[in-house]
Amino acid sequence: MNRAAPAPLDNMGRPEPRLDGRAKVTGEARYGSDFVLNDAVHAFLITSPIAKGRIASIDTRAAKRLPGVLEVFTHENTRDLEEVPFSTGGGGATTSIQQMGPEIYHDGQIIGMTVADTYEVAQEAAALVKIEYEVEQPSATFGSPGLTQEDASKANERAKGLPQFGDADAAIAAAPVKFEAEYGTPTEHHNPIELFTTTAVWRDGEVTVYEPSQFVYGQKHNVAQKFGIDDARVRIVSPYVGGAFGSKAQFSPRTGFVVHAARVLNRPVKLVATRDQGFTVQTYRAETRHKIRFGAEQDGTIKGFSHEGFEVTSRPDPYTVAGVEDSARLYNYGTVKTHITLVHADRNTPGFMRSPPVVPYIYALENAMDELAVELGMDPVELRRKNDSMKDTTGKDWSSRALMQCYDEAASAFGWSRREATPGAMRDGDWLVGFGCASAVYPTHVGASAVRVRLESDGRVTVQVAAHDLGTGAYTVIGQMAAEQLGVPMSHVAVELGDSAFPAGPVAGGSNTTASCCNAVIKACEAILARLAAGPATPGNNTGVTRDFEEAFQRLGVGVVEEYAEYLPPGAKADTMAKLYRGTPFLGGGSKGEKLMYALGAEFVEVRVHRLTREIRVPRIVGAFAAGHIVNTRTARSQLMGGMIWGISSALHEATEIDPRNARYVNDNLADYLVPVNADIRDLQVILVPERDTFVNPAGIKGLGELGNVGTAAAVASAVYNATGVRVRDLPIRLEKLMA
Ligand code: MOS
Repeated sequence: MNRAAPAPLDNMGRPEPRLDGRAKVTGEARYGSDFVLNDAVHAFLITSPIAKGRIASIDTRAAKRLPGVLEVFTHENTRDLEEVPFSTGGGGATTSIQQMGPEIYHDGQIIGMTVADTYEVAQEAAALVKIEYEVEQPSATFGSPGLTQEDASKANERAKGLPQFGDADAAIAAAPVKFEAEYGTPTEHHNPIELFTTTAVWRDGEVTVYEPSQFVYGQKHNVAQKFGIDDARVRIVSPYVGGAFGSKAQFSPRTGFVVHAARVLNRPVKLVATRDQGFTVQTYRAETRHKIRFGAEQDGTIKGFSHEGFEVTSRPDPYTVAGVEDSARLYNYGTVKTHITLVHADRNTPGFMRSPPVVPYIYALENAMDELAVELGMDPVELRRKNDSMKDTTGKDWSSRALMQCYDEAASAFGWSRREATPGAMRDGDWLVGFGCASAVYPTHVGASAVRVRLESDGRVTVQVAAHDLGTGAYTVIGQMAAEQLGVPMSHVAVELGDSAFPAGPVAGGSNTTASCCNAVIKACEAILARLAAGPATPGNNTGVTRDFEEAFQRLGVGVVEEYAEYLPPGAKADTMAKLYRGTPFLGGGSKGEKLMYALGAEFVEVRVHRLTREIRVPRIVGAFAAGHIVNTRTARSQLMGGMIWGISSALHEATEIDPRNARYVNDNLADYLVPVNADIRDLQVILVPERDTFVNPAGIKGLGELGNVGTAAAVASAVYNATGVRVRDLPIRLEKLMA
């Protein structure tokens, strides 16, 4: 039915510069808190300094006496607010902890909010609120007293029916080579540059919310739910998002409080949460542990694989990362056993963070694969090749799988053949040199999306969809697809995103935006060309002159042709689009469909560890990735590069430390929460491996936003082992872990 996206034979699109680049560098781009600049009054959050207990008393008199203070909200005057159900998908709440007390479930819980004429007065008023607490001893993390555990498959829909293929215990027991190890990943926080902000304006019973969002339709529905009004009375505006990574995909309690305050005070209210508040009023990456077991033949053939995950979550919410769905499919293991245990502690509820669910789970799997290769005396690339298969353990086919092509291209660019397998064998002066590699994998999700495309007789095109550009390049690739389909230059294309007044778009999660929206754009453009009785555009003709549509427009006697189109991916149901308009996204693909749909890659790193100080450096990293049709090689490279840098960050730098005595985050700021700087990233190479796969969708797009940082940490851990002989299983790998 659809023509595949026109693209050169290698399936690589043009490296068009970003459509939103100029607006961003000139400061024209307006983010959530840039709206309503003069009329708004300001809110400041009061957050709990204790992690468990209850508010015994609260005294707001001094705060209210401060000149300029309009109101102080506490549990005493907000308890009638409706609650939005907790959800582990888009379109629900990040947490069920939505009351300002009196019960305290975690450090940093929102327990009050001041509103004043200025930000400074609101902040001062917050400090004047006197609160007394009944304090209980909290449980912070793995090993703390007072934790409770439950089987994730019994607590959360997402973990129902986890992969169990054959009798893995028996296969492992019978295998000549057995391997078993435990791995750990720490708590991590998104820390997008743009803080968590909400500005709410009520007018005539309707509310407009300006807030960075990964899913404006979900947010629209949730706000309506919270205030018991029709969805049609809510508009969410979020044209630009300064980073999100999963932290802005759902309804967070702060939004409800700000919208409530704006209604009660009948004034526009603006909240900009502080950096440290962002650590506790939003979600984060759950702390995890993993027990991996393999049984293998001497030649490297894996006969059994067992992956048990343990994840810390909050007391009330069964959030689960659930990455065994994907670790169970990466290779053909013969037999598979998986299990996930949720560990409830007195923490805020974790959530999606860049490449969930795979990041922690594939880290454990790939680190273990390298250890198994060492045990077998095999090259780790060859171990992957041995267990590479176009079918998974159950016999299900992959729609396409270029894992070993990625390994071969990256290995050759990296110079893997120069590797010495013996730890410590490669040296450069005082530096121990190590090489390591690992697989990257991310499920190809394809969502439902609507879109509106308008073509004017002079060749100007406008595309509208309530999708989101989190810095990923969505504006550009969506515009590029319209330009290619209609045969007009990019300079003629305008794209409008991030507004719930536009046709419904997918949640910007699971790397589906390009695939979902571009397929909808193709449908709308085809409808436009059909109305104009114009043939398809010449492939790749999007830089020259505009096609001459004048004759067709004259024939129709109109100046503008506009088409609305809906794209439904395989697996969608009759009501999928109606549900999307009501804030429930649909994301098919990955392991869920008829075939396994995944983007894949291979990453190779060189590390250098100083012989005496144990300082760790990553002078080189090479990643090769296959993700179907690449719409724009520039934005794709940029996403993969960012992902690999994030991977190095999670390998060597990142961890949110929690004090086990009081369950409070210690480094809740960007000075102490370590991320790499330019000096930490040296030679970084991204290779795009050509791949064609129109099973995944007519345009053949797999999506790659979240692919780049998967596996990186395992590659670094393997390289550190190769350099030093020390296997670090708990991230991050810091120099103290390499001290003899
Ligand atoms: Mo991404 S964590 O799927 O927003």
